[in-house]
Amino acid sequence: MKATISLIKADVGSVAGHAIVPEDLKKLAEESLKEAVETGTIIDFRVFNAGDDLELLMTHRKGVDCQEIHGLAWEVFKRCAEKAKEMKLYGAGQDLLKDAFSGNIRGLGPGIAEMEFTERKAEPFLVFMMDKTEPGAFNLPIFKIFADPFNTAGLVIDPSMHSGFVFEIWDILEHKKVFMRCPEELYSVLALIGAKSRFVIKRVYPKGGKLPAEEPVAVISTEKLYQVAGEYVGKDDPVAIVRAQSGLPAVGEVLEAFAFPHLVSGWMRGSHNGPIMPVPFRASKCTRFDGPPRCICAGFQLCNGKLIGPVDMFDDPAFDHTRQKANEIADYMRRHGPFEPHRLSAEDMEYTTLPKVLEALKGRFEEV
Ligand code: F6R
Ligand code: MG
Ligand code: MG
Repeated sequence: MKATISLIKADVGSVAGHAIVPEDLKKLAEESLKEAVETGTIIDFRVFNAGDDLELLMTHRKGVDCQEIHGLAWEVFKRCAEKAKEMKLYGAGQDLLKDAFSGNIRGLGPGIAEMEFTERKAEPFLVFMMDKTEPGAFNLPIFKIFADPFNTAGLVIDPSMHSGFVFEIWDILEHKKVFMRCPEELYSVLALIGAKSRFVIKRVYPKGGKLPAEEPVAVISTEKLYQVAGEYVGKDDPVAIVRAQSGLPAVGEVLEAFAFPHLVSGWMRGSHNGPIMPVPFRASKCTRFDGPPRCICAGFQLCNGKLIGPVDMFDDPAFDHTRQKANEIADYMRRHGPFEPHRLSAEDMEYTTLPKVLEALKGRFEEV
């Protein structure tokens, strides 16, 4: 039987500043989703916060892009935004960019990662939630998980994974997509996804064999707030769902890709490069210079659409060195102050508030 996992998120207000979603808001979201379980709209749910982002994880049998499910998430966010306004939280209602819901939450501000697939005999999956960064932050780890034999031993050792995976890559500026096969097109895939502010991995598919080739094994949210709002309103803190084991990368191979705190863009004012730090739920709270960017991971088994978990996967001393390295990198990057490459390249700064500052200087320039 097929199950759908929908992970829909929005920043609807936080305390202090852009640090965390308060418990009151998470409780309110939980109450609303509990009602939705009782009425049979969804099978199960969990509510998380990744820093200042409210994350709704829902399971159901209604497929992706379902009006009822998207409508439910929109209602929950609306309700929480109202409460956030009452509480005078910071950025109350921030990511709800449009007033009216018209059948799909896509393009209204929230980020979405969802996939429908046939539930296996045992179905382990991991949910990744990042704060203070953008969808391209997943390019490097997702590539490593599904295409790098130095990360994923199964690509070499496990016959059911040996033929590799298919990547669905989106050009988020031109709104185009391309399907590419790994390992055959490995170098071409990297040629694209290395430019992470433009080309992002949207989904990964198996090549068949044990698993149906049309059912995704990983999905990443790729919504760009800037493109919806037409001006800077915050970063597009991304989320991802990754299925694991039995012909897919093992849970440990998936997590291994996060042991390297690679540089991502975001951090303060969505305008700086900094290391992504894998942290336990309790440390999902961007403080220093509104960061450094963080990632939490919730592990689950799916049981006939119901969720067994979460396991707080980065709550493990095995990631202490990664965090220490991320702190060293944060110090090093911070010492550049307003200079590139700590500050984003001029091209990427187009999508921040900097152009407004530069506009005022325009008339001062003389010919040389
Ligand atoms: C980053 C982020 C924050 C804010 C910063 C300024 O994604 O949301 O770093 O950009 O705190 O916020 P405002 O302009 O609201 O004072
Ligand atoms: Mg915020
Ligand atoms: Mg955020």
